Amino acid sequence: MTPYDPLVPHFKARYDVNNQEFSISGVVRPQTIDELAPSIALLKDSISRVRGVLYVNIRRLTQMNNTAFHAFSRVIIDACRAYPDLKFVVVTSSVVGWTTQKFRRLSGIEPNITVEEYDSEFYPGQSFLEEGGFIPILRTQTKMTWRHERAILPRHGMQSGIVMADICCGIGDFAVLVQKEFQPSRIVALDHSRSSLAYARSVAATFDIRGIEYTYGDASEMLLDEEQFDLVTCRHSLQIFNRPELILKELYRICKPGGRVYITNEKNSHCLGEPRSDSIQWTYNEVAKLFEHFEMDVELGPKSRRYLTEAGFDDIRVESFMVTNLDGDPQDFADMIAAWENVYAGDMAKNRGDDPEFIERFRQGFQDHIFAALHPKGYAGWPIWVASGRRPL
Ligand SMILES: C[S@@+](CC[C@H](N)C(=O)[O-])C[C@H]1O[C@@H](n2cnc3c(N)ncnc32)[C@H](O)[C@@H]1O
Repeated sequence: MTPYDPLVPHFKARYDVNNQEFSISGVVRPQTIDELAPSIALLKDSISRVRGVLYVNIRRLTQMNNTAFHAFSRVIIDACRAYPDLKFVVVTSSVVGWTTQKFRRLSGIEPNITVEEYDSEFYPGQSFLEEGGFIPILRTQTKMTWRHERAILPRHGMQSGIVMADICCGIGDFAVLVQKEFQPSRIVALDHSRSSLAYARSVAATFDIRGIEYTYGDASEMLLDEEQFDLVTCRHSLQIFNRPELILKELYRICKPGGRVYITNEKNSHCLGEPRSDSIQWTYNEVAKLFEHFEMDVELGPKSRRYLTEAGFDDIRVESFMVTNLDGDPQDFADMIAAWENVYAGDMAKNRGDDPEFIERFRQGFQDHIFAALHPKGYAGWPIWVASGRRPL
């Protein structure tokens, strides 16, 4: 490990006036309090300028010694006494586990200080998507999409020898398939679900797959350095965040200038099938509404071009493909729909408070989609939008 040199700045302090947010990130281990003078001054200045709430964002604060903790805490506690109407919300991340515990002590001292672990608030559908049997869904989905994506990826910057990251990697199947097919020189695969990562690591160990670094992290505030990847992929995930633009900002940050960010998303209401198309159509329109209720936009696919443009990418490429029952074994398609029905008409519908009649009709559409998929003359489809943009040089 490199010895800590106080003359080299290891942390950043910033104030964002729009969000009333003071943030501090990196390694803060000063030997004396004087080393912190500019950031303490910035914190005091931020306090004097805000009304209502000051957010103190420490989601990327990886280390802080006691000298620094006491110095910053002192300023905040003093401010609570000087400005009784001002509230402080300290925003931590579960990725940096010690921060919540350490800063929570401040709320015991001053009631105007609260501590929020941001990532547990951030992703509204987290619990049922992570714990609710999502592993088999992701497995089957990746199997179904891979036959299309393997041909598409080279048009979006995939080639051997590149350094790539798969953000929101889920159970890691995509990283494994990419490793086998394209042999990048390095793959970092990041997710926020410990159970998915544990599963991914066990799959890689069982199949003796090397070269994939599975990392626990928060996609909206990653601890990865900037400008280090030739290709950053993020599949089926922008659509599950209530603020996808924040994730895209991070994907942009870690991508090298000239590198590309590749995203895939759905438009669930365009899932289709014959026969029984009306019932199928009704159910997938309801799927979109159900996700909307949990602040997720599973209609995002065709909006990809706009999101990439607004995030500052150029040379944007968009294509779409349809996964169908005719891609390989129709039973795979049917299994995927059965897994969707299980979660969407199960925990999610229950959680929204849907009544039994609605759930019965909702389930019927999935059953009809399965019927279409397995019917000897039937056709069933699930459309996906692929898009990528280049970070300008
Ligand atoms: C719909 S899954 C897609 C997984 C994978 N990309 C795939 O296509 O199979 C969304 C993934 O995002 C992960 N996720 C959710 N919130 C996250 C966050 N804040 N940071 C990183 N990953 C997150 C979930 O754990 C889940 O694995």
